[in-house]
Amino acid sequence: MEGFAGKVAVVTGAGSGIGQALAVELGRSGAKLAISDVDTEGLAVTEERLKAIGAPVKADRLDVTEREAFELYADAVKEHFGKVNQIYNNAGIAYQGDIEVSSFKDIERVMDVDFWGVVNGTKAFLPHLIASGDGHVVNVSSVFGLFAVPGQAAYNSAKFAVRGFTEALRQEMAINKHPVRVTCVHPGGIKTAIARNATAAEGIDVAEMAKAFDTKLARTSPEKAAQIILEAVRKDRARVLVGADAKILDVLIRITGSGGYQKLFSSVAKGLIPK
Ligand SMILES: NC(=O)c1ccc[n+]([C@@H]2O[C@H](COP(=O)([O-])OP(=O)(O)OC[C@H]3O[C@@H](n4cnc5c(N)ncnc54)[C@H](O)[C@@H]3O)[C@@H](O)[C@H]2O)c1
Repeated sequence: MEGFAGKVAVVTGAGSGIGQALAVELGRSGAKLAISDVDTEGLAVTEERLKAIGAPVKADRLDVTEREAFELYADAVKEHFGKVNQIYNNAGIAYQGDIEVSSFKDIERVMDVDFWGVVNGTKAFLPHLIASGDGHVVNVSSVFGLFAVPGQAAYNSAKFAVRGFTEALRQEMAINKHPVRVTCVHPGGIKTAIARNATAAEGIDVAEMAKAFDTKLARTSPEKAAQIILEAVRKDRARVLVGADAKILDVLIRITGSGGYQKLFSSVAKGLIPK
């Protein structure tokens, strides 16, 4: 893959899954990488893989929920590489639980990481991306940012919010003639650790839930997902659907409409998500 030679790319949640694959693929395409994660062990693996490719890399522990740290980090990345071209706001967590039995804390935690993490990253890096003259914000939502399913209200809320935030940002950059492109990413089921790292409301067997995700829902490799995302970035797509499942679901919800898909999904979800 080519096209990112000399670009400075920031990837959050780069210690695992899609973030790790994005960082490696960007490194192979000639980019310089600023990678971060709360999981420093996973991050070290990504760093080693980038060094083996010969890609310049700066690796830091960063919790995307820590706004001030994120702002200091953005300045440090600019200082280190001299410019910043792209940010991939990818870090995320999953949580399973009906609204009725989820605590405010459970819901807030998902919003903090999956929504506010994206806002923090975008706001911290935006001045640097504008200054670069060739910027790109890539925010990772989900197919769960396109439709809702039972048990995923917290995650759905965060991912719908990422979509709204990102779609508004793209228009603002265009109106204000800023040299920053914006892409919102909607992956379907990707074979990563997301379900194994997930938390759930009391009484839900997380291991069973992860098994169901790994065997029934996750169809696309993180490497393939990264290639699809980077192709969309090259082509300046507003939205990218990752995986055949994402494309089929997108069509399905358009055809069935809001009421139709909710009726359909609530019956299908019963069989897929173990209680
Ligand atoms: N795997 C899927 O099927 C799928 C589908 C749709 C969307 N997504 C989204 O893709 C993104 C990447 O997820 P993944 O599937 O690669 O999962 P993953 O669990 O393999 O990787 C997520 C990474 O984010 C890191 N992280 C979690 N909380 C963090 C925080 N507060 N600060 C910094 N890093 C943090 C984790 O340590 C982990 O390394 C997430 O935003 C997720 O919601 C995944």
